Formats: sequence, structure tokens, C-alpha cells
Amino acid sequence: MPSMESQVEIERAAAALAGAERVVVLTGAGVSAESGVPTFRASDGLWEGHRIEDVATPYGFASNPRLVWQFYNGRRANLQNVTPNPGHHALAAMERHWRDRFALATQNVDGLHRRAGSERVLELHGNIQRTRCTGCAQVEDRGLEPLGELPQCPRCGAMLRPDIVWFHEMLPDDILWEAQQAASECDVFLVVGTSAVVYPAAGLIPLAKQTRTPGATVIEINLNATEASHLADIGLYGPSGVILPLLVQKLGIKVEHA
Ligand code: OAD
Repeated sequence: MPSMESQVEIERAAAALAGAERVVVLTGAGVSAESGVPTFRASDGLWEGHRIEDVATPYGFASNPRLVWQFYNGRRANLQNVTPNPGHHALAAMERHWRDRFALATQNVDGLHRRAGSERVLELHGNIQRTRCTGCAQVEDRGLEPLGELPQCPRCGAMLRPDIVWFHEMLPDDILWEAQQAASECDVFLVVGTSAVVYPAAGLIPLAKQTRTPGATVIEINLNATEASHLADIGLYGPSGVILPLLVQKLGIKVEHA
């Protein structure tokens, strides 16, 4: 049962959304946590036991591609056993409600938003289902099929890599631009399940708030306060798989489970 204080905040958030013409959402690993996908920043600073530099940088891949593929194959295999949770479904329902006045930018590479029925998903950090050839640059959606230890391009034979954005790499220009454009035009900006420490994704929050006057109302949904909390007008602290469905219910938006 939410406290009185949090009930007031949920009502404020629902009222802001009810009056919003345009809505943008930024999600991070926390939105998939209740599906059983581990988040990134554990207290030991490791990603599932690995140093970030070893498994999520171009240098890590160049020095030990076998280890990197082992890591991503493990994550791909894990995704075969998870399904979208009520938070993903609630966001898909929001898109059906606001249609082209709604955009969902995600830092997640797990594909769970699409599996929940979201269509306009701006995948800022790529998608773990896709591979990219290090030789001919061909991108292919390989679903979640096992890819082997050192998968090779079926076209040119060069080594494949996951089509995701690693540290020290650029985000896809067109997707980032679309997210920035949407953020700068929205009335409500929801920040869900992200520690908001990785840029340029986290930069969408001040962009939404400061591009126009008055800027967007920023609503943060997280288990706890983050680097972005000082920018939030409304903070809803608890699991997104509970809070998002509650919000759409208050708005009278119907949720369809895929
Ligand atoms: P983090 O692991 O940094 O943060 C996850 C956030 O989710 C934390 O703030 C948690 O408090 C919150 N959280 C956990 N469970 C939650 C729940 N059930 N409901 C709501 N919130 C919950 O993940 P990100 O912020 O997504 O980049 O990390 C951003 C980027 O850093 C990732 O996309 C990845 C990583 O390096 C790349 O791979 C380029």
C-alpha cells in the first residue's frame, strides 16, 4: 500500500500526464529488472562479474573477442527466458493512447519494449539481437538464437560484433536526434529505471526541462533517488512494474497484454 505522501505524488503525476499533449519516456535497466534482467551498476562496480572495460568497450573487444562474445551470448541466452513485465506493457499502452505524440527512448538493448507492443522505440544503445559485421558493416537481426564462440559474417567472413553501443562509441546519430527533438517538444518527460549517469542519454532530461519555457514536467520513477532527481518535479519511488500500471490505470488507459 503506497504511503499518503506517495499517493499524492501519483495523483500529481497522473494529472500532469492527463493534461499533456506530448509525452516522452526515457527508460534504463530498472524497467526490465522485474523481468529478471540484471541492472548494470551493482555496488561492486562490476557487470555480472566483469569489468566494464573488458566487455563493453571497443578495446575490450579487440583484445579478447572470445570473452566479449561469451558475455553477450550469456545475456542473449538469459533473454530467451524472460518476458516483458507490467511496466513495459503500461508504456506500450501509453503509446497507443498518445500515438505519434509519444516517444519512448531506451538505453536498454534487451528488446523487451518491442516485445510488449511498443512500436516507436528509440534504441539509443542498440539491440543485443542484432549483429554488425566488423568487415562489411552489415547489420542483421539474429533474434536470440545461439551465435557460437566467435561468430562470423555469412557474407564476407569477418568477425561479427553485437550491434550495441559500447563506452567510447558514438550513439546512432538519427536515433539520438529523434530522441532530442522529441524531448525538446514534450510536456511531460518520464525518467524510468535509470541511474541517469550515462551521456548523452541522461542529457535528454535537462533538454526536456530547459529547451522551452515552461519546460516539460519531469517525473522520475525509480527504486531510489538518482543523479537526475534534482531535475524531477515529481518523484515516484518504487518498482516501475507497479507504478507504471497504477499511473495508466489512473488515466483510464487500457493495458493489453501481448
Ligand atoms: P543502471 O544499472 O545504471 O541503473 C538502473 C537503475 O534502475 C537504478 O537507478 C536502480 O535504482 C533502478 N531500478 C532497479 N530496479 C528497479 C525497478 N524495479 N523499478 C524502478 N527502478 C529500478 O542502468 P542504466 O541507467 O540503464 O550502456 O544504465 C545506463 C547505461 O549504462 C546502459 O544502457 C549501459 C550502461 O553502461 C551501455 O551499454 C552503453
